[in-house]
Amino acid sequence: MTAVASEQKALMDDVYSLHRHFYDLTRKFYLLGRDQLIRSLAPSPGGTVVEVGCGTARNLIVAAKTWPDARFHGFDISEAMLETARKSVARTGLSDRITLAQGDAGNFDTERLFGMEKVDRIFMSYTLSMIPPWQEAIERSAASLAPGGGLHIVDFGQYERLPALVKRLHFKSLNDFHVYPRRELPAVLRRVAEARGLTLQFTPLYRGYAWSAVLGRP
Ligand SMILES: C[S@@+](CC[C@H](N)C(=O)[O-])C[C@H]1O[C@@H](n2cnc3c(N)ncnc32)[C@H](O)[C@@H]1O
Repeated sequence: MTAVASEQKALMDDVYSLHRHFYDLTRKFYLLGRDQLIRSLAPSPGGTVVEVGCGTARNLIVAAKTWPDARFHGFDISEAMLETARKSVARTGLSDRITLAQGDAGNFDTERLFGMEKVDRIFMSYTLSMIPPWQEAIERSAASLAPGGGLHIVDFGQYERLPALVKRLHFKSLNDFHVYPRRELPAVLRRVAEARGLTLQFTPLYRGYAWSAVLGRP
């Protein structure tokens, strides 16, 4: 792991050492759009799905129940989060369908992590806003898509159609928690789509509270 990644791992372990115990309960009220993303995955039977920055494995568990014929994999930089994820996956009896690993989104390799050169679906749910090398994470994900594959993203938007004061106050509290909504996300996705010949769907949700996007490999 690079020095930058080690620093991020230490920060995330510190941020989540306590929060991971009530993360799933509290986040359901403001990490909006996660279940829509999971419903949109639609992997084909036997298909492979990877979550980048899987946290407590909440999404992987919902996704594995929603799509019972697919195989799920998730990685996170934080060992603290992964400890909770492993317990949750075991508790729900899904250990044979969900594989977890530790990895850095800025420099990941699905072959090394999970023994798969290409993946049918990759998703990133409220992680890009926390990953310092977020553009590299998008590039790596796009490069790992199998033909017909898709990269599904949901994260904080820019509150385009919400009052400026709400944006200022909420962004301040997000920044205090090392979360930085990525204003440049649409432009970066357009650039990656164009460079790699991918399709792009971009949809603001809840007046710009969240942004959702899918990069598709024909
Ligand atoms: C807000 S949580 C989102 C967790 C989960 N995706 C969800 O929707 O509930 C952000 C996650 O990104 C992880 N993360 C931050 N930087 C990372 C990196 N460089 N590589 C992999 N995961 C990272 C954190 O450890 C944390 O688990």
